[in-house]
Amino acid sequence: MTHARKRGIFWGVLGVLTVLCPLCLSNVHRLAAQPSSDISPRWRIANEPPGNPQTATEAPASFNPNNYNNGLLSDTDFQQDKVSFETVETVADGLGPTYNATSCCECHGNVITGGDSQVTEVRSVRLTAKGYFASLGGSIIQARATFPDIVEHVGPTDTIRAQRKSTPVLGDGFVECIANNTLLALSQAQPAVMRGLPAIVPVLEADITPMTMQNFTLSNAVRIGRFGWKCQHASLVSFASDAYLNEMGITNPLFPTENLSDGRLVDHTTAYDPVADPEDNGTDIQAFAAFMRATDTPARGPITSSVTRGETLFTQIGCAVCHTPTIVTAPAGTLINAGAFTVPTSLGNKNIHPYSDFLLHDIGTGDGIPIQPTPDFTYTANVMRTAPLWGLRTRNRLFHDAQPLTLTEAIQRHKAQALAVAANYNRLTATQKQSVLDFLNSL
Ligand code: HEC
Ligand code: HEC
Repeated sequence: MTHARKRGIFWGVLGVLTVLCPLCLSNVHRLAAQPSSDISPRWRIANEPPGNPQTATEAPASFNPNNYNNGLLSDTDFQQDKVSFETVETVADGLGPTYNATSCCECHGNVITGGDSQVTEVRSVRLTAKGYFASLGGSIIQARATFPDIVEHVGPTDTIRAQRKSTPVLGDGFVECIANNTLLALSQAQPAVMRGLPAIVPVLEADITPMTMQNFTLSNAVRIGRFGWKCQHASLVSFASDAYLNEMGITNPLFPTENLSDGRLVDHTTAYDPVADPEDNGTDIQAFAAFMRATDTPARGPITSSVTRGETLFTQIGCAVCHTPTIVTAPAGTLINAGAFTVPTSLGNKNIHPYSDFLLHDIGTGDGIPIQPTPDFTYTANVMRTAPLWGLRTRNRLFHDAQPLTLTEAIQRHKAQALAVAANYNRLTATQKQSVLDFLNSL
């Protein structure tokens, strides 16, 4: 349990049906054709109108540890929900039996609560003639457990393995409020060889069927994903619910079933878990989502003349094709998340500077693990989300696998769809390269 005040829980929001946008769907279908895909037109992506660049105002940006509430919540509520995000859970609260860490903040805390961390986690799947299959206990191999005999291990036949680093959640309320139409338009505007794929994912709180990792499939309640290295979620309530179970082992209304440990049942019907499911009644999930939605975007460092020159070069050589400098969020009042959320005033029609298109690209780093090992998501196995570069100066390990340790190494690792742009970078003079690095270090 966290110390969050009890909130009115509104799990029942359903069914406001998405408006079929045939144009968008045909685009998705066509775009998806590039890495082999079978995104079917039967999934309806809501027509979420874009914001207006003429009237949009700047989203607040800060790394101020004392106050980074963007205005969505009262300061008291913000502090309470932040405490929920920081609270260390125990076995009596439902932690485990298999888990990765004891609080959200343990992996999302640099340099303030909601930032990222060096923590990586292990995923594994296997590929057979019949397609991708998750490992026995799910594709995340939890690093810790509450008993010695149930710590998970990668199975010898699960030969596709990956490390995935924690991503920051600061400013993600604004990202959630980017309209589907905006992401599709970004994709459309990209040259064909560099075009990003939108990930189409379920919005769990807009669907009536509680999810398990076994039935994480597409239904009518879908939206374009934007969170996680594979854009595997479109809503912060969905992500928080998934993380509470898969990172901390705490079952909740959207993920009511405890994970298996290497295929073995370890839930409250066994001696491994003293707490009945769901271990959270939804209160904590709502607090996590509210906190994330209420955070400011990451603030820039000092802008020198070299930084300004570097930003111009960044755009001129093509980095900005994927690392989109400015996006306007949908207008306040827009119904998003397949009907489960309405864009609030504090998040609507705001300019944000994420330096990401929130689309999936093949830059030669795809880790071979799809969003979920089901046919719906096979097309996501070898593409990665354009890493948002806001807050970059707070990270000293880069990419999904935390392998590049310098910006130059990161740039040199851009191949495939980004090969020509990386070559443009390599043709710059030493001074110009330094300006691009200065710019990146100002983010
Ligand atoms: C053990 C470390 C760990 C813990 C604990 C953890 N996370 Fe995460 N989080 C991650 C990793 C790793 C990713 C990237 C996952 C991926 O895409 O494969 C992530 C991604 C996210 C994202 C997506 C952010 C973005 O913009 O891409 C959200 C939102 C999030 N976590 C919320 C939470 C919440 C809420 C909690 C607490 C219930 C939590 N996380 C606990 C490691 C953790
Ligand atoms: C075709 C799209 C594309 C282009 C063009 C592109 N990038 Fe990227 N960039 C990505 C993707 C995708 C990732 C994440 C890769 C991963 O983690 O496997 C990424 C990651 C990064 C990262 C690491 C960020 C982090 O937090 O880990 C940096 C830095 C970066 N890019 C800088 C650049 C620069 C500078 C250029 C221009 C020379 C550029 N990129 C061009 C798609 C692109």
